[in-house]
This record gives sequence, structure tokens and C-alpha cells, in this order.
Amino acid sequence: SKKILILTGGGDCPGLNAVIRGIAKRARRERGWETYGCIEGFNGVFNEPQEIVRLTSKLTGGIHVRGGTILKTTNKSNPINFPMVQPDGTTKFVDRSDELVAKLKALHFDAVINIGGDGSQKISKVLFDKGIPVIGVPKTIDNDLSATDMTFGFQTAVQIATDSFDKLVTTAESHHRVMIMEVMGRDAGWIALHTAIAGGAEVCLIPEIPYDVNKLVKRIALRYKKGRGFVNIVIAEGACPKAGTIHSTKGDKGSEHVRLGGVAYQLSKQLKDAGCTAEIRETVLGHVQRGGSPVAFDRVLATLFGVKAFELVLEKKFGRMVAYQNNNITSVTLEEATKDYNFVKTDSYLVKAAKGLNISFGD
Ligand code: F6P
Repeated sequence: SKKILILTGGGDCPGLNAVIRGIAKRARRERGWETYGCIEGFNGVFNEPQEIVRLTSKLTGGIHVRGGTILKTTNKSNPINFPMVQPDGTTKFVDRSDELVAKLKALHFDAVINIGGDGSQKISKVLFDKGIPVIGVPKTIDNDLSATDMTFGFQTAVQIATDSFDKLVTTAESHHRVMIMEVMGRDAGWIALHTAIAGGAEVCLIPEIPYDVNKLVKRIALRYKKGRGFVNIVIAEGACPKAGTIHSTKGDKGSEHVRLGGVAYQLSKQLKDAGCTAEIRETVLGHVQRGGSPVAFDRVLATLFGVKAFELVLEKKFGRMVAYQNNNITSVTLEEATKDYNFVKTDSYLVKAAKGLNISFGD
């Protein structure tokens, strides 16, 4: 029989289990194929004893409804830059890709399906170049991969953020407050922008459009003057002020912002320092955006990605990543897959429409 190894790498994302189930279900329809899961990214191969489990229908049944990944995941299994803890307690990063390739070859897998984001697909490319038959499946709630029009997990994250936004609106209104809600999006403002339009925010701050704090203060004051005594702001964790208007936070990783207390708190201080007299409260949504059950759209997209990934294996079209383009499930080379980011274009219709709705970007 022929064997496929499936693994999930990087941060988790609603829909990962739907991909795993999609591959396994589709493979069961073909004679002689078996699917296996590697536990915790490539650590399942590196670890002794190795952690590789047969994906029976009992294991994968109904998992498309569940968030997270039954295979577990980690940011610490990158074979090209593997963190090895030294006897003195320090960490050294080493290239273990040749070791991984040798181990994978010894396990006799006919295909490896690597479900992961930008970093994971760069690893897919290295392994493919070293002779491993790899297929990639894109994953990120941030929606910032240019090779696919949309990634699964994104719609779920937007839904969670919108539900939270709606709740903040009623309390903002009661207290005449400025509410700042921070959402994920290290490099791209997709979640923030979609949430701002879905929720009806007054202000939306994204990494692609640096904001001017003084303009925001004026905008808030005007809204209070007009008698609408509350303001709801959505800010992406990677957003930063215009150079020169305030100390720039650009360059810090979004995830570090979250750990430091969030850009929501930084913005709050910037507004007060620039003369905003309204009462301000901050909310950092954080990882709730990545948790729980995927919405129907993400379940469908993730399942189709899984089915397509298996079909690419059948067709021996290795070195490719599945993608969603023009309302169609297709594939691109791993090279194309990792070439560009998908940033919000400042001249896009989405931004134009948001401005038409009087959403301020602070620019
Ligand atoms: O890339 C997805 C993402 O959720 C980002 O929006 C966020 O900055 C990052 O992952 C957080 O990652 P973690 O906390 O898992 O390291």
C-alpha cells in the first residue's frame, strides 16, 4: 500500500482538522492508500520514539467541526532552523533538514502533505528540492498569502472579532467611551478591515496605512461634538503611527505587541498624550480569534483544500501548494506560494468603500 504523511506546523487555525479529515476521507476512496499523521510538526519525525499515527476513520470522524489540530502544532520544529537546547541552557539554531530528509526516506512515505503558513511552505520547498514528494496546504487566519485569494480560518477570525466588536459597541454607547479593540494581523490588516466594515467602526488602523494620532484626536472630538458620544476603533496588532508623529513601533513583531500588552494600550496612551479627553478603554482579543469551531465557509474551504491535496498526490504533482483563486480550487508551485505577501492595497476598492462609509484610517 501507499502511505501519506500529514502534518500541521506554525500557529493553529480553525479549519486545520477539516483539512486533515478531507485528505483522509478522499484517500479512503482510493484503493491501497493509507494516511498517517505526524504529531507536533516535524518533531514527530525527529523525536525518539517517533510519533506517527495511522489516521483511521475513528480518529478523523467529525473533526472538521473542531478547532485546533488533532495532530498538535508548534513553532519549534523548523528543520532548517531547529532550536536545540544546549547543556548550558542556551538555545542554538541548527540546520537539521538533511537529517529530516534521511528520516523521511527511511519511513518510505509516498507523499508528505505540509499544512502551514508562509514559514512552513518555505520548509516544504527545501524538502521538495532535497527529493521529498511534498504538497503544501496554506494556513493562516491573517489571510496574508498572495498565492491564494483566501485562507481558511480568516472568516472565523473575522466572525469572532465582529461578535466581540458588537458587544463593545453597546457598552461604548452606554458610557460615552472610546473603545479600542485590537485584533490579530502582524503584517496585514485584513481582519481589522473586515471587522471594521462588518461592525461599523468609526476608525480602522492597519499596518498598511500608518496613522496620524492628531487626526484621530480631531476625528474623535468631532464625533462627540456632533452628539454621537462614543467611538469604536479597530486596530490591527501590526498597525503603527506615521513616522515622525510619534515614536514608531514598526519593526516589533505583532505577537510581541500582544505579549507586551498590545498596541491597543499604546494607542490609548498616544491619544491621551495628544489631547483626547474622552474616556478610553482597551480590549486585546488575542488568541480567541484562533480558537473554537470554524464557520461553515472555512470548513468548506479547508475540506476542499484537503481533497485537492490528495488529488495532487494521486497525479504526482509534487512541489505544489493548493490555492483558492477566482472561486476555484487550484494549485501553484511552492516557489510562487512563498514569493509575495498579500497586503491590503491602499488603493483597493475595499479601502475606498470603507472611506466612503466614513471609516477613518487616520491618514
Ligand atoms: O500568523 C497568525 C497569528 O495569529 C498572527 O496574527 C499573530 O501575530 C501570531 O500568529 C501569534 O502567534 P503565536 O502567539 O502563536 O506565536
